[in-house]
Amino acid sequence: MTQLQINEVATRDGFQVEATFVPTEEKIRLIDALSATGLARIEATSFVSPKAIPNLRDAAEVVAGIQRRPGVGITVLVPNVKGAERALASGVDEINLVMSASDSHGRANLRMTPEQSLAQYAEILSVVRSHPQGSGVFINASLSTSFGCPFEGKVPQARVLKLVSRLLELGVEGVSLCDTTGMANPAQVASLCEAALARFPSAPFTLHFHNTRGMGLANALAAWQAGIIRFDASLGGLGGCPFAPGATGNVCTEDLVHMFEQIGVSTGVDLDALLAASAMLPELVGHDTPGQVVKAGKADRRYPMPILDQPQR
Ligand code: COA
Ligand code: ZN
Repeated sequence: MTQLQINEVATRDGFQVEATFVPTEEKIRLIDALSATGLARIEATSFVSPKAIPNLRDAAEVVAGIQRRPGVGITVLVPNVKGAERALASGVDEINLVMSASDSHGRANLRMTPEQSLAQYAEILSVVRSHPQGSGVFINASLSTSFGCPFEGKVPQARVLKLVSRLLELGVEGVSLCDTTGMANPAQVASLCEAALARFPSAPFTLHFHNTRGMGLANALAAWQAGIIRFDASLGGLGGCPFAPGATGNVCTEDLVHMFEQIGVSTGVDLDALLAASAMLPELVGHDTPGQVVKAGKADRRYPMPILDQPQR
């Protein structure tokens, strides 16, 4: 039985920060390959300002061009009402609203404080729920800098929990706690996840880690041990917020799947198919990726024994 739900974010969190534009048909080809691997969700793109994120200016074409598979939810990142209207028109299954837990990152990334984002969300929820295609659309919200802000440092747990509670009161159905610049550590992750699940036991939480300081998989394991079953991850470990200094890639999807499968937690994902998709990335983005298992092979890989010289008698 599948025990985890993995949301693939490479074509959003990954491609948004690449130095070069990945052609639309290549994005579509990659998403179609990922859809066939057993992933629960794919965050295909974002409906943001094309001036802010030129790499994702083809969002509508990407969503229109991909094959839709039953059981694979297509979600998109949305910062404001305009983005929500564009997302609804494209026919997605889920809208992933994005806001920051800290004022400074909110202003740098979205030109909105958390309060201003919440005011947008109230409007977005009423737009979505009154839209002819909006009734079945799942509304998630991603809280950037939930584990620390590159400008302000520590973000108090009480502040994050208060924002979660306000999001749920507004009618948001799921919340992603995001470690935007890899500042979280496993003890902090355990503490926030336990507190969040104790206070909001029926809320679907997703954890979104970046591997900026090498703690991504350790943090994911800590979250799972605390009871979290939904994770964002990025093929090849691509990713990063262009408006957060020092941001680097997300926790790598195939490395995350490999780790959980190794410890007997079923992800429902075909790791070989995922590794084949990951192997497509260097050509698409023009550089090597941080993924490890794609280079080393799975832990059960066996190498031919070298022929050794016969010992001299
Ligand atoms: N989709 C497309 N265009 C949008 C848009 C959206 N969701 N939101 C705003 N725009 C356009 C506006 O129409 C306007 O265009 P114009 O200059 O041609 O008139 C321009 O963007 C500026 O709009 P404004 O409402 O003044 O927004 P802003 O300049 O305050 O920017 C954001 C706010 C959030 C729209 C913008 O900063 C953004 O999209 N950022 C992307 C953040 C992101 O994706 N970060 C990484 C992921 S965490
Ligand atoms: Zn991210």
